[in-house]
Amino acid sequence: MLDHTLAIQRLLAVAKKEMDELKGIDSGRLSIGIVSTVNYFAARLLASFSRQHPNVEICLDVTNRETLLRKLALNEPDLVLMSQPPSGLDIEAANFMDNPLLLVAAPGHPLEKSKRISLKSLTGETFVFRESGSATRLAMERFFGEYDFQPKSTIEMNGNEVVKQAIEIGLGISVLSAHTVELELSAGRLIVLDVAGLPIVRRWYIAHRTGKRLTPTALSFKQFVLNEGKRQSKQ
Ligand code: PGA
Repeated sequence: MLDHTLAIQRLLAVAKKEMDELKGIDSGRLSIGIVSTVNYFAARLLASFSRQHPNVEICLDVTNRETLLRKLALNEPDLVLMSQPPSGLDIEAANFMDNPLLLVAAPGHPLEKSKRISLKSLTGETFVFRESGSATRLAMERFFGEYDFQPKSTIEMNGNEVVKQAIEIGLGISVLSAHTVELELSAGRLIVLDVAGLPIVRRWYIAHRTGKRLTPTALSFKQFVLNEGKRQSKQ
């Protein structure tokens, strides 16, 4: 029964999408999946798209990379926003913006004024790790691997917000996307340490499964994101 119910639900979703296509780009439902780090600029993007297409019903699903990849494999969202599209899954991905990862610490850190700090000199620090399944964590681990670096002490926390708070109260330091710390850096609540090899420059992509039939609304959102990316990189 469960299999039949799921099959019917999938058919109904396809039928609804095709109806939306007939109606054109100014109506229908747009389902977007994003990794939690994209949350820091997604609201801005969706708000301006929504102003141009007020009748489109947007459904935003925020999760970490691992969960998003599972949903992408099931072809659930219309489009996803993430960094580094996975290999091993048929995906059409277009990059639209840089995603620099920085080493962030609390103000007053003894190395605040130092230049080109070597990773090795941070061995005694406590590093705050994102939860496993996070792409930010993966990028940080890969970076440590390249320099054969192992911090003496680590803490694991679930999500960017709690990691930032931990850094702010001096619990440790971490590598985070610049998008997540814009406000704290400009308010002087966090600082960036100038570590050799950083920033890690990754890119943001808008992606969907290859062969997915995008509705006119989804196509128009994709184009909108690509244009916004171009506009931001010119600023
Ligand atoms: P995350 O993903 O929020 O799961 O760390 C960020 C990314 O894809 O770079």
